[in-house]
Formats: sequence, C-alpha cells, structure tokens
Amino acid sequence: MCGIVGFLGDNPEKILIDRLKKLEYRGYDSAGVAVKSQNKVNIFKSKGEIKNLENIIKTTENACLGIGHTRWATHGKPDEINAHPHLSSDGKWIVVHNGIIENYLTLKDKLVNDGYNFYSETDTEIIAKLLEYYSKSGSTLDAIKNTVNKLNGSFALCILHKDDNHLFFVKNRSPLYVAKNADNVMVASDVVCFKGFSEEYYNIPDGYYGFADSNNVKFFDKLGEVQLSTSELDLCEFESETTFKHFMLKEIYETAPSIKNILEHYSLKNNRKQFDKIDFSKIKKFKFVGCGTAYHACLVGSDMLEEKTNVECNAYVASEFRYSNPKIGEDTLVVLVSQSGETADTLAALELARQKGAYTVAIVNVEYSTLAKCADCYLPIKAGVEVGVASTKAYCAQLAVLYIFSQIIYEKMGLGSFNLDDLENLSKNFEYGNVTEFKLLADALKYNDRIFMIGRGVDYYSALEASLKIKETSYINSDTYYAGELKHGFLALIENDTYVIVFATDKKVLSKTISNAEEARARGAKLILLTCFDFKPHELDNFHYVIKVKNANGPLQSILNIVPWQIIAYYTSIFKGINPDKPRNLAKSVTVE
Ligand code: G6P
Repeated sequence: MCGIVGFLGDNPEKILIDRLKKLEYRGYDSAGVAVKSQNKVNIFKSKGEIKNLENIIKTTENACLGIGHTRWATHGKPDEINAHPHLSSDGKWIVVHNGIIENYLTLKDKLVNDGYNFYSETDTEIIAKLLEYYSKSGSTLDAIKNTVNKLNGSFALCILHKDDNHLFFVKNRSPLYVAKNADNVMVASDVVCFKGFSEEYYNIPDGYYGFADSNNVKFFDKLGEVQLSTSELDLCEFESETTFKHFMLKEIYETAPSIKNILEHYSLKNNRKQFDKIDFSKIKKFKFVGCGTAYHACLVGSDMLEEKTNVECNAYVASEFRYSNPKIGEDTLVVLVSQSGETADTLAALELARQKGAYTVAIVNVEYSTLAKCADCYLPIKAGVEVGVASTKAYCAQLAVLYIFSQIIYEKMGLGSFNLDDLENLSKNFEYGNVTEFKLLADALKYNDRIFMIGRGVDYYSALEASLKIKETSYINSDTYYAGELKHGFLALIENDTYVIVFATDKKVLSKTISNAEEARARGAKLILLTCFDFKPHELDNFHYVIKVKNANGPLQSILNIVPWQIIAYYTSIFKGINPDKPRNLAKSVTVE
C-alpha cells in the first residue's frame, strides 16, 4: 500500500528515492516527490516503478527539504495526475497522504461551492485545498490544525509549504514515524526507512501533528505541545548464506532460523507473564481474527487450541468479523493475527473487541505496529522483516507462535504444563524438501489456467494457503475444496488432465481423503499427493506425483505441509516470467478497509 518519506537536509532527491525503494515491497502503482529549495518547489510524478520516477527527476539547486510517496490507487486510477504529491490551487501547499479520507466528498462539495477546482480523482487533493482555505485566516500550523479537525478517516500526512522551510506531518490511524540524526530529520510510514539513518525514532500517536526544522522536532496534540520519547530501532534480519534473486525465496529459507528464534524467545518464562492479567476462569470462548494468510493461520490456531483445551474456538476473516455482530464480551479472548500489525480490518476487529470488553491478544511480526501496541497481550512471531508480498516465513512463524499460544492457554487454564517439545523436534529435523522435484512440478503447473486443491480438516487449511500462494505469485486460478465436497458440485469441473492436489496428512481421515481423490481421478484428473505417510507402491500408481513431507505427529504438521508449496509457487511464478515479490494489484500491508 502507499508509502511516505519526508526528508529535511541537503540533496533530498537521493534520499527520497532510496527510501521510496525501501517501501516498494508494500505494493504501489505510481510514485512522486516534491523537492524544495529556499523559494522553489519542484514536483515529479510517474506511473509504474520508482525507476521511472528516478529517470525524470532533475536536481533542484540548493534543495533542503522534500517529500515522497508511493501510491496504491484507491480513489482514481493509477496515473500521473492522481499520483501524490497533491497541490493547493495557489500551488503553495504540497501534500502526500496514506489512508482514506472518509468524508472527502462532503468536504469537496463545500470547497467546490467556495470556488475551488479539482484536477484529480483523489481524496488527498481536498487536504491541499483545505490547507489553502484555512491558511487565509491563520498561521501555517493553525491551517494544519484546522484542516485535520475536518478530516474523518485514516491519514498519515507529510506537508510542505512553499514559503516555509519546515517539514510538517500529521498522523491518525495510519502509521507514521519520525527520526533525526545530528544533521537531518526523516519522516516515514515504515521504520525500515530509518536503517542507516538513525538508531532511534519517534512513534507518533494517533491525533498528533508536528513539524521539524534543522534544530528541532516538535509534536502537538489537541491541547498543545507534547514531549515524546524515542524507541530503539530494532529491525530483526537474518544473515543469508547465499544471495537469493528474490525476497520470496530468501524468506522461505528464513523459516528455520525464524523457528529457532521463536524457541529461544519463548523458552523464557517471563515472556508469558503478561497473561497473568487475564482472568482465565471467566474465559468461555476464543475468537481468532486475521486477513489473507494470517486468516489461514487463524484457522489452524483455532483448531489447535480447541483440541488442546476443549473450549469453543472459531476463526474469522477480519473484514467480516466487524459486521457479523460477533457474540463477544468479557468471557471472550480475541486473538488477532497479522504480519504487519497494520491491516485496517484487523485493527477494526481489535477496536470492536476492546469496545465489547473482550480480552485481546496480538500475534504479530512487526513489533512496533499498532496491533502490537494496542492489544492486552502481545506475542511477537520473531520472523524478521518480511518483504515479499506473498507471506511465507511469517505464516510458518505464526503457526509456531499459535502453537505456543495454545500451550500458554493450556497452562494458564490449569489443564497441564507448558511444553515446547514438538516445536523443538520440528526445529531440529526441519527440511525444505527436494527443490529439483519442486521445480519440475512448477514447470508442469505453469501451463494450467486452473488447478484444484483438496483436503480435510487441517489439511484443508494447508490447501487454502497453498492455493493462495499459487494465485498470488503465478496468477493461476487455484481453487480449494473440502475433499468430502467433491461430489456436491466440484466434480463437474474436472476434465481430462485437470490437476488436483491432494493434502493427506491426517491419519484419521486418510482413507476418506484418498477415496475422494480417486473420484476425481476416475473422471480424468491428474493427482498430486502431499502426505507424510508411506504408501504401498501399487497405491502410489494412481498419483501423478507424490510430495512426501515429514510427520510432525500433531498440530505443527501445517508448517511442514506448506513449505513445499511456497517453493513450488515461487518457481511457478519464475517460470511464467512474473516477479514473485511484487504480484500485480496486491500490496503487502493493507492499511485501508
Ligand atoms: C495482504 C498481504 C498478505 C497478508 C494479508 C494480511 O493481503 O499481501 O500476504 O496475508 O495482507 O496482512 P497481515 O499483515 O495482517 O498479516
């Protein structure tokens, strides 16, 4: 999704482009910068990749300030006109914005009545026009304050004024941070931008605004100036032995180090102490909430916990949770799972859970995120920075931490003792599988417009996540069904040589799943089996291909099931000439509902 960088210091162009590249992974479709010298502001915008922008930027002499933006279109198509920065009618105010202004149409109507003309389809342009409107009757800072008071929705803003050498910023329900070093100040929507710039940063709270000049950064809330303390920049990254061509592959191979990291972190008892604030005698149900891959982790986590505690557990897609009138209250523990900790729907679910008096636990990768900060308890997944849009190591790390969470609850409910043996075994014996074979499979799959995946129980959840990886990275329509549902409609779709991928790692339903797969084969399907069991040679004859994974003997099987499919999805995209790190139309961090 959209990214923001602001920089106060010499030669801002170079820094802005460099930092916008660090935000590329979030997904975007156009980019722009505004660069200011003492009396001049130059604006450059382009559609597509940052390198297009880089090619058109000209040096602004004596430049001392600049703001930059990567845009993921929400209001208006991705083109140069709608790309940020946006301008006031007098050309004095220059704005970049992340988030959505929910009341922009009402504000726009009023501004049009007051004689303002609009050149773009964006919600952001109204901010620039409002700033101009309010600056007619007050100082620059008053204009910002009055403008912000009119806005509903989520907005992180970086603002320049042609006749002022301050870098202004505003934050409300969309991430924004400020860092300074001896000479310069940087504002950014993701702390990854501060790497190599500063060791510490300010995490701006919602509703705050402020400005920076070469000596100072000042923050304000509704009542006036406030002092903020800094947080230490702590970006956990793993050393990779080889150079990978893409983040996706690098990150798949960071699964094992992530699991080791998790074990190290959670073997310390004090990491579980925070749960003492929850009165477990009151808890009657658990709700797991997430989006995309995190939702798939929730499905597994919910089953894991229900099996361990026998307490009612359910998983929800975050965008549905809020509007489904969920029956939650003081007897509920809501578990919010997210890689970024900034997904708008997941944050909305957290807000609802808190309003209804439920306890909240966040299972999150980005430790400085809103979700991590605002939940009652927070379990980091310790996977390190994940850049690839298709989540890989974070999914496995979420599963590992959900397993630990089930152990914590088991202990806190007085049902038994906390024990990480299964995870330790998995970590010791972890394998990525036979990549040569995965490449052959990827090569075969790349020619298909659609494939199908089936499974029962937790295997179905693995199939859902494997399908998502294939869809995201290779644009093949991969559909997932419960194996038992084949004959209730899905079989009509089977033609000769349709690939059906069968996940069969649950002993209690193994024979049933295999029989369902047979039903598809009898109608011409080519079966690919993923299993942890040994089959007799004649039983294997019915399968076009078999992926054998280790047997985790329990709830951690989902980790072993997905890694081969992450690798297959990666190579399928490579063989189709797609960049797996930046799938079309998708964003890493979805900060709008
Ligand atoms: C986007 C990403 C997915 C991710 C989902 C939820 O769709 O592309 O990889 O699973 O958002 O994001 P979260 O940060 O909450 O896990």
